Amino acid sequence: MLELKGVSKRFGGLRALDSMSMYVPEGSIRGLIGPNGAGKTTVFNVVTGAVRPDSGEVFFQGRSITGLMPHRIVRRGISRTFQNIRLFQRLSCLENVCIPMLQSEGPVKSLMGFLGDRERDRKARGLLELVGLGDVMDRPAGTLPYGLQRKLEIARALASSPKLLLLDEPAAGMNPEESRGLADFIARVRDRFGLTVVLIEHHMDVVMRICDRITVMNFGSVLFEGTPQETVRSDLVLEAYLGRSRVPCHA
Ligand SMILES: Nc1ncnc2c1ncn2[C@@H]1O[C@H](COP(=O)(O)OP(=O)(O)OP(=O)(O)O)[C@@H](O)[C@H]1O
Ligand SMILES: [Mg+2]
Repeated sequence: MLELKGVSKRFGGLRALDSMSMYVPEGSIRGLIGPNGAGKTTVFNVVTGAVRPDSGEVFFQGRSITGLMPHRIVRRGISRTFQNIRLFQRLSCLENVCIPMLQSEGPVKSLMGFLGDRERDRKARGLLELVGLGDVMDRPAGTLPYGLQRKLEIARALASSPKLLLLDEPAAGMNPEESRGLADFIARVRDRFGLTVVLIEHHMDVVMRICDRITVMNFGSVLFEGTPQETVRSDLVLEAYLGRSRVPCHA
């Protein structure tokens, strides 16, 4: 579903990605972990076209998407959430979900009323019901509790009907009970929509609970890859975290 081959990206003198390679099979949930500054978010930025790599290739469903414009990548079927919540705070939950639908339809289809307002509204309501936001869909996004805003972000990412969903620390700021709930929610969403998911997360309980495999990054490339059990047993991984005095939360 997704493959990175030797992707490198420098910001000035800093190597954010240093020949990063990763292969994510269809239907899986892949954990992407690593110390702060390891390059995890940069991987998402490269895959979604927000950042152009200096070298290397990104393949999606076997075709190169390297260097494509972000809106084209969305239309191919890749969607993401952000480490810092990026919602239209004053717009309703419904409007927050409708906007990416319009964007993913593209200018021509939107002008021709491809989905139609009513159809779009129906689809957005269905999506919000599904993620458990049915009762609050007319409320401004900014008035929702934090945990619900995180869910709304995921609903919004689903609005463009992606095949690959990239989640950047969706459980940030949640307590262990909330983050377990979110983990189960992500697994349900994957099953319901037949998605492939890449999940950046510092909450190890979330990663351990739902990921098929975990890729551990350090200094812009892969330090370790294995099952959740193999990963927590790895001395290399432990060292990478302890060496930077950051231990995954709730490990
Ligand atoms: N647009 C940019 N311009 C300059 N430096 C950047 C840019 N984006 C990322 N970096 C740097 O690249 C490195 C990797 O950043 P990245 O955000 O990918 O790390 P991360 O693994 O997501 O970290 P965290 O766990 O803190 O979110 C960091 O040193 C960061 O400061
Ligand atoms: Mg990050």
